[in-house]
Amino acid sequence: MAGTSLLALFFFLALFKPLLPTAQLAKQFSSPLHDQWNMPTLSLSQEWHILGPFEIGTRDRSDPDLLLPLHPEAVWGADPLEAHGGFRAMQYAPEATFPTAIGDAGLCRWTVLLTGDRIATDGFTKATLRFGFPKVNWTFRRSIYGWSGLQYQAWARGNVTVSGTGPVTSAIYTDGILEFRVDGQLYFGGDFYSYRRAPLILDLEPGIHTLELRFFYDIRALGGSDNPQINSTVELKQISSRLNIDRASVLIPDVVEGKLASPYVSVNAQNGMNKVVRVVWLKPVGENKAHFDLALLDDSITIAPYQYRPLAFKLGFSGRIPAQLSFEIGYEIGLEGQIQIAELVVDVKHRSMSEAQKFTFLHPSGIVSYAILRPPLNTSCHTGEKRNLPLVIGLHGAGLEADGDIVRHMLDGVYGLCAWILFPTGVTSWSGDDWHTWGFADVQAAVSGIRDWTKAMSWKGAGISLSEWVVVGHSNGDYVPFTIWRDADASLTAVLESARRNFKHELLTKNFAGIPIFQQHGAKDDNVPAYHSRLMHQLTWEDGLTSHYLEIPQAGHWFDGVLTTDPLTEFYRHYTEDILHDTLPNNFSIVIPSSMDMGSKGGILVDQLWTPDIYGRIKVTRDKEEHTWRIKTRNIRRFHIKTKGVRCAHPTKISLDGSELVFTSSNDDDIAWYVQNAAGYWAISRDDGWRGLSERYGRQLGAMDAILRTQGHLTIISRSIVGDTVALQISRNLFQYFAADCELITAVSTLPVSGSGSNSTLGNTIVVAIGDKLDHPQLPTFPISVSNKGLKLNKPSRTAVEYEPEPGLGAVFLRPLAGERLELVIWGADLEGLQQAARLVPTLTGAGQPDFVVLSPSCRWKGGGGVYAAGFFDFSWQISSGSYLS
Ligand SMILES: *[C@@H]1O[C@H](CO)[C@@H](O)[C@H](O)[C@H]1NC(C)=O
Ligand SMILES: *[C@@H]1O[C@H](CO)[C@@H](O)[C@H](O)[C@H]1NC(C)=O
Ligand SMILES: *[C@@H]1O[C@H](CO)[C@@H](O)[C@H](O)[C@H]1NC(C)=O
Ligand SMILES: *[C@@H]1O[C@H](CO)[C@@H](O)[C@H](O)[C@H]1NC(C)=O
Ligand SMILES: *[C@@H]1O[C@H](CO)[C@@H](O)[C@H](O)[C@H]1NC(C)=O
Ligand SMILES: *[C@@H]1O[C@H](CO)[C@@H](O)[C@H](O)[C@H]1NC(C)=O
Repeated sequence: MAGTSLLALFFFLALFKPLLPTAQLAKQFSSPLHDQWNMPTLSLSQEWHILGPFEIGTRDRSDPDLLLPLHPEAVWGADPLEAHGGFRAMQYAPEATFPTAIGDAGLCRWTVLLTGDRIATDGFTKATLRFGFPKVNWTFRRSIYGWSGLQYQAWARGNVTVSGTGPVTSAIYTDGILEFRVDGQLYFGGDFYSYRRAPLILDLEPGIHTLELRFFYDIRALGGSDNPQINSTVELKQISSRLNIDRASVLIPDVVEGKLASPYVSVNAQNGMNKVVRVVWLKPVGENKAHFDLALLDDSITIAPYQYRPLAFKLGFSGRIPAQLSFEIGYEIGLEGQIQIAELVVDVKHRSMSEAQKFTFLHPSGIVSYAILRPPLNTSCHTGEKRNLPLVIGLHGAGLEADGDIVRHMLDGVYGLCAWILFPTGVTSWSGDDWHTWGFADVQAAVSGIRDWTKAMSWKGAGISLSEWVVVGHSNGDYVPFTIWRDADASLTAVLESARRNFKHELLTKNFAGIPIFQQHGAKDDNVPAYHSRLMHQLTWEDGLTSHYLEIPQAGHWFDGVLTTDPLTEFYRHYTEDILHDTLPNNFSIVIPSSMDMGSKGGILVDQLWTPDIYGRIKVTRDKEEHTWRIKTRNIRRFHIKTKGVRCAHPTKISLDGSELVFTSSNDDDIAWYVQNAAGYWAISRDDGWRGLSERYGRQLGAMDAILRTQGHLTIISRSIVGDTVALQISRNLFQYFAADCELITAVSTLPVSGSGSNSTLGNTIVVAIGDKLDHPQLPTFPISVSNKGLKLNKPSRTAVEYEPEPGLGAVFLRPLAGERLELVIWGADLEGLQQAARLVPTLTGAGQPDFVVLSPSCRWKGGGGVYAAGFFDFSWQISSGSYLS
C-alpha cells in the first residue's frame, strides 16, 4: 500500500565535541569549509535538458494513485541511449532526433525544462523536476498495453554550481532515482524507495558540475493520468568532515514497566571524511552514567571513507530509566591515533505492558532489528490446563514502518485473543526484499527474540509456542507480472524467468495442503486488484484443496479494521485455539523451488535437488492402517523427515520410489538422510560429511540473493583501486536497500582491518575484481575461472566456453566458501564491465539474478537480452544443464 508518507524523515545531527586542546582542533579544522562565516553555496541549475521517452520493462501493478514504482529491468541496464555512447555522449541540440518505439512518430527530441521551486542557500540546494511527454498518445498505448504501457524512462541534464574556495563534501539525495552521473561518473543504486538512509557522498570542487539523472515514470507521484509525468526532487547538502551520527536512525527498544524490553541498540554512522575511521568505544554521559552497562557488539568498527555503517551496542540499565540517554562515541581517524568524539542523544519511550511495544534483536546478518510485540494479557487464556500460546504474526504492506500507528494498531480488534501478536519489520519499511530471503530471516529472528524478551521482562504470564504461527498480512504479496521486458533468446529467457520464479505462488499451490487459508479482498481494491486473490482461490480449488475466499463488496485496498473483520476474527480465534489439529490430507504433494525457502510438510524437508533448473516434486500417499507412506519423487537428491513439532503421525515404514525402507526420524542434531544415487536408488545415511565445500546446501541455496543469507555482517573486498569506488557503492546500496552492514576492505585501506576476509568472519563475502586479479576459488572444481585470456566457463560434458576480454565485459557469480558460506564475485574486464556487473548485486526485488551471469557490453542497452551466459549451479557447484551459454 502507499504508505510512503510514513517514511521517517532523515537528517544528520552534526554533534561534535572536542577532546583535544582547542589549539590543536583549530589547526585540524582550519579549512574554509568549517568557517561558519564563509559557507559555500550550492546551487542546482534552473535549466534542465530532457531526453525521452524510451520504453522500460516493469513489474506492473494496477491503480494509478497507489501504484508503486517497480522497474527491475532497469537493474540490468536496458537504456537505449547506451547503444550510442550513452546520454553522457549526447549534447543538447534542439533539432536532433532519436528513434524511440513510444515517441510520437517513432521519434523523440530534446526538451528544455525550467524548474520551479528551486532552493539554493549556504550548504544546501534542492530542485524539483516535473515533466511529461504530452505529445505521446498515452491513452492509446494504455488501451492496448495496460498500465505498463504508461511506464517509460528519460534522462535529464543539469548543473550544480559550487562556490567557495575549497572542495565541499556533499550528500546527494536522489529520491525515486536508481542511477545518475556526476561529471560523467556513474552512480548506480540511488534511492529508489526514498529511504534517505544513505545519500551519495562526494567531494565537489568549486565550479560547475554536470548532473545527469535517469528517470522512470513514477505513477505514484502524479497518478495515472493520460499525461504521465515525472515528479522528482534532487537535493544536495553539505556534510561535515567528521563521523556524522544519524540520530533519526536510532533503534532502541521501548521501556516497558520500567525495564528495557531488550538490550540491543543501534545508530547509523556516516564517515564524512576521505579517511578511514575506526570507532573504538561508546560511553554513557550525564548524571545517570553510573547506572549504565554498555558495550559495542564489535570491539572496533572500521568505516571506510564516505561509508555508512550501523553501530550496534548492548545496553543495560540499573535503576529508573530516564526519558533521554546520552552517549559519546570515540573514534580514530586514519592512523592519527587521536580520539575524536561524536555525541548521541537517544529518546526512550516508556510504555505499559498492554501497549504494542517495540523490542530489538539481532538479525542473522549481525544488524540490530526490531519488531512490535503484544504479549497475551488475557488471564482466561492460561487458567486451567497450562498451554503455550501460539503466535499471530502480522506482516505489513510495502512502505509501512512497523513502528507506525497503522501497523501497531492493525490487530487491536483481536487483542485479547489467546495468542502472542508480533509485527516484524523485515528490516525495512519495504520488508527488505518483500519478505523473502532477507525479510523472512528477520521474521524468524524476531520470533526467536521473544524468548529473550520474556527473560528481560521477567515475564510470568502465558507461555509461548514459537513454532505455531497464524500468519496474517496485508498487501505486499507476490502477484505482479513482468511486462514489456526486452526480448531475448528463448533459452536465456527461460533462465531469467526461472530466477524470478522462486516465489511464484501460482505454481506452488499444492504446498497449501494442510494449511488453513482465509483470503479477504476488497472488491473495489484498485491498488492490488481482487483478480489475483480470485485466481489463487481457483488454483487452490483445482488442486483439490480449500481456501476460504471472502470478497467484501464495497471495500477498497485498506479500511480501518481490515484485518479484524468478523470472519477473520473468527478464523484467528479458531486456529489459535485449535492449532494442533492435523489438517494434512491423506495424500499430499510438495513442490520444491530451488530457493528451498520451504519449511517441512508432514515433516519432510528437502535438502538438495538434482538440478535447480526444474522444481523438485514429492508425492505422498499415506496408508494409515499400514502406517506406510508411499513417496514418489522427481528431481530430489536428498531429504530427511523430522517428527518434532510436526502435527501429523509419522509412518513406521516408507516406500520410496518403489523401494521399501525403514522410517528413520531426524531431529536437529541427528539427521538421517534419504539419499538417491545417480542410478536412482535410495539409501539412508547419517554421514554428514557431505556438508562441505564440494556440495551446495543450506544457506548457499537459491539464486544470487542467497548472498543475503549471511550469518554475520557481509565483507566486501576490493582488489584494485579502480574497484574501490564500486565496492563503496555496493556497500552503500546494501545499506540503503536492506540496512545491511558491510565491512569494506579496499585496495587503498590505510588501516589494518580485522582479518583478511575469507575465514575471519562468519559472514558472506563480496569480491570486487578487475582483469586477472581474482583469487582462486576455495573449491578447486569450481567451473568459472578468470585469467588474462578472459573468462572461462566449464560445462559438464561440453568443451569450455571462453569469453575474451573486451571493453565492457563483466560477470557476477556465486562461489562456495567453507562453513555453508558464499562469496559473490563481481568481475569486469575493465571498470565499465565491473560497473555493469555490480548492478546485479541484490537491491530491488524482481530483477531475478540467477547464480551466474556473464554480461556483454550490449546489456547496457539490451538489458538481460544482451547477456552472454547465465544460469545456475547444481548440488555439486557445476553449471546446470539448463543454463544458457552462448
Ligand atoms: C489517442 O488515442 C485515443 C484512443 O485510441 C483516441 O481516441 C484519441 O483520439 C487519440 N488522441 C489523439 C490526440 O490522437
Ligand atoms: C551546465 O553548465 C555548462 C557549463 O557552464 C553549460 O555549458 C551547460 O549548458 C549547462 N547545462 C545546463 C543544462 O544548464
Ligand atoms: C510531486 O511530488 C511531491 C512529493 O511526493 C508532492 O508533494 C507533490 O504534490 C507532487 N506534485 C504534484 C504536482 O503532484
Ligand atoms: C480472553 O480469553 C477467553 C478465553 O479464550 C475469551 O473467551 C475472551 O473473549 C478473551 N477476552 C478478550 C477480551 O478477548
Ligand atoms: C490417495 O491415493 C491413493 C493412491 O493413488 C488412492 O487410492 C486413494 O483414493 C487416495 N485417497 C484420497 C483420500 O484421495
Ligand atoms: C579457510 O577455511 C578453509 C576450510 O576450512 C581452508 O581450507 C582455508 O585455507 C582457509 N583460508 C584461510 C585464508 O584461512
